[in-house]
Amino acid sequence: MQNIKISKLQVTNFRNLEPDIITFSPNINCILGENGNGKTNILEALFVLSNRKSFRKNTSFPQFLGIDGDKPEILFTSIFDCEGDQLSYSGKMDPNGSTWFMDGKATRKKVGAELVFINPFDAYSFSNIPSFRRKWFDDHISMCNREYKKVLNRYNSSLRFRNTLLSKKPTDFMKQLNVIDKQMSEYSFDMLNMRIDFVNNLAPISEEIYKDIFSEEHQLKINIDSRFLGFSQQQIFDYMQSRLEKDLVVGHTTYQIHKDDYVLLFDGLNAYEFCSLGQQKMSYLSLLFAYIELFRYKFNTYPIVLIDDVSGELDRVRWSRLINFLETSKFQVLITTANEKFKEELERIDGANKIYVDNGSII
Ligand SMILES: Nc1ncnc2c1ncn2[C@@H]1O[C@H](COP(=O)(O)OP(=O)(O)OP(=O)(O)O)[C@@H](O)[C@H]1O
Ligand SMILES: [Mg+2]
Repeated sequence: MQNIKISKLQVTNFRNLEPDIITFSPNINCILGENGNGKTNILEALFVLSNRKSFRKNTSFPQFLGIDGDKPEILFTSIFDCEGDQLSYSGKMDPNGSTWFMDGKATRKKVGAELVFINPFDAYSFSNIPSFRRKWFDDHISMCNREYKKVLNRYNSSLRFRNTLLSKKPTDFMKQLNVIDKQMSEYSFDMLNMRIDFVNNLAPISEEIYKDIFSEEHQLKINIDSRFLGFSQQQIFDYMQSRLEKDLVVGHTTYQIHKDDYVLLFDGLNAYEFCSLGQQKMSYLSLLFAYIELFRYKFNTYPIVLIDDVSGELDRVRWSRLINFLETSKFQVLITTANEKFKEELERIDGANKIYVDNGSII
């Protein structure tokens, strides 16, 4: 995987952004401005350009399209730095779809930049919503491990099929259920092992990062909460069979690996029940920064890290240690804030690129 960084970005008709050329530095870029001026929109424009979808849920072309524009068309122009080479990547979105160009030639390929987006709500969701945590791990393991993504897709389609059969007249489909259970126990066994591997790799790094950035006195650990830990494939199959009667009655799969969870332990205590909001945010950020390190081990390159105002709930000492961490990190970071005090801290970073946004314009 190539080391890609964004150098320049210009968008036309994207939300409230004016078609100004935004220039980025390869290290820290602070995007500053008051509420509602377009900071997050800049991160979103880069995300849409790279991934062709937004990090905001249920948003696509109609929401992206600037309300004041005269044409129903969004244009993206960008220059990426690709290990010293300049790569131009542009695109056009309209009601019929989108077209993309790499160095002037039409392409179906994405630009190849991996982005990690960090926002203030995810730390809260991670602590409070088990399905969010499961998805977080599924997504992040998939990004590092293609095999996991493949098996996860197969598992999910088998699960959907199993649930469809269970919701009909399952006694007519006992043979099919038996075959599906064999498949699912194989997928579960493989997935659980890949999850354990991922957590085993992630845990020591996040523990260290937590100590480095946030607090030397506390210890952060990650555990997988699964009934299948230590099970063989056959034992998983037997377990599914033992629950089949119950599944037949309720009409869906009552327990399988998709119900497994991940527990963060803060000094040995369940962080979701025990930690303050600030500690929860610090734990979540440590996990993300650990993931970025893992990504580097795996692909020998860093993703571009987009941090959308995470200053809330953290005190000044944590702010400055977080900034210190970002300064010494090798990845490209785009960080926004509307918080006056955090802005002052960001403005103090030597050599950081500062982008001031006012009513959609870069000033
Ligand atoms: N399709 C659109 N067309 C024009 N303006 C839009 C569109 N969608 C959103 N906006 C405007 O974009 C602005 C929000 O931008 P954004 O979320 O980037 O703000 P922000 O600078 O990140 O603010 P905050 O500090 O509150 O997070 C709002 O003023 C909103 O009205
Ligand atoms: Mg914002």
